[in-house]
Amino acid sequence: MSQAPRHTLICDDMAGFEKLKNDWEGLAERDALWAILTDASKAGGRWDLGEFLATGESEIQTVLDHLARIGRNVAFDGTALDFGCGVGRLTQALARRFASCTGIDISVRMIEKARALNLYPNCRYVIGSGLTLPFASAGFTFVYSNIVLQHMLPEYAQAYLREFVRVLAPGGILVFGVQDTFRVRDLNSFSLRLRQRLRLRSRIRETFGSGAPDMQMHCLPELLVRRAIGPARIVDIQFTNTAEEDFNGRLVYRALPPATGYVSRQYCVIKSA
Ligand SMILES: C[S@@+](CC[C@H](N)C(=O)[O-])C[C@H]1O[C@@H](n2cnc3c(N)ncnc32)[C@H](O)[C@@H]1O
Repeated sequence: MSQAPRHTLICDDMAGFEKLKNDWEGLAERDALWAILTDASKAGGRWDLGEFLATGESEIQTVLDHLARIGRNVAFDGTALDFGCGVGRLTQALARRFASCTGIDISVRMIEKARALNLYPNCRYVIGSGLTLPFASAGFTFVYSNIVLQHMLPEYAQAYLREFVRVLAPGGILVFGVQDTFRVRDLNSFSLRLRQRLRLRSRIRETFGSGAPDMQMHCLPELLVRRAIGPARIVDIQFTNTAEEDFNGRLVYRALPPATGYVSRQYCVIKSA
């Protein structure tokens, strides 16, 4: 069993990581389901749990159907990893399909809720405490992460991408979503970007009041993705609807990026056998 490498956090990064963790603990405490899928009509504990979990089921099926369409064989007899699992919206859907499944999250409260909602003995939840994943190399046949990496600094996202490749078994499949860029059409672009950021922040403030935890938004362009995954191979890139306001956990592939605003991409990466 090879040892996990340590990604060193310098002092400033440590403060940034603690803030990220505290923000997600705060969001999970206030309204975990709404912090995960920020539909305005569901704020204040109004997500119906069954409806919420059904979005995870349909998202995972959408992804697996897509992988089948592009000729990628998923090893369901192996173990799946759901990074940034929250309360297990996607993890439970993975647990139904894979021999075993692990969800990992930075927030203790999210993990407590995920454990309370877990229906499957082949599914376990782990608390993540740094930029190194607490797993041996090559143990997962499928790694999935959606609406997670966009909420952290690009250097953190890159460190996790390196980790995803490390923990992926040879021949395994990694699928993840990021915001690639922010598209602009004219000179108002800067203010548009600012407005989009502020809209998310103000939605959180409207819901949780002033002093509410932050939900960061960052982009990770393809060049940085490629640097992070090293020799692993990108076999597919799709535009998705995950940054759209009415995403609501219903994943849709788009033929084109939006004319303005965040461009969401889903990458499929293969680690050579
Ligand atoms: C928007 S939620 C998405 C949850 C889940 N992926 C889903 O789609 O239902 C983002 C999740 O990522 C988690 N997260 C943020 N930073 C993380 C990190 N560095 N390591 C692990 N989890 C993280 C948060 O605690 C939160 O549960």
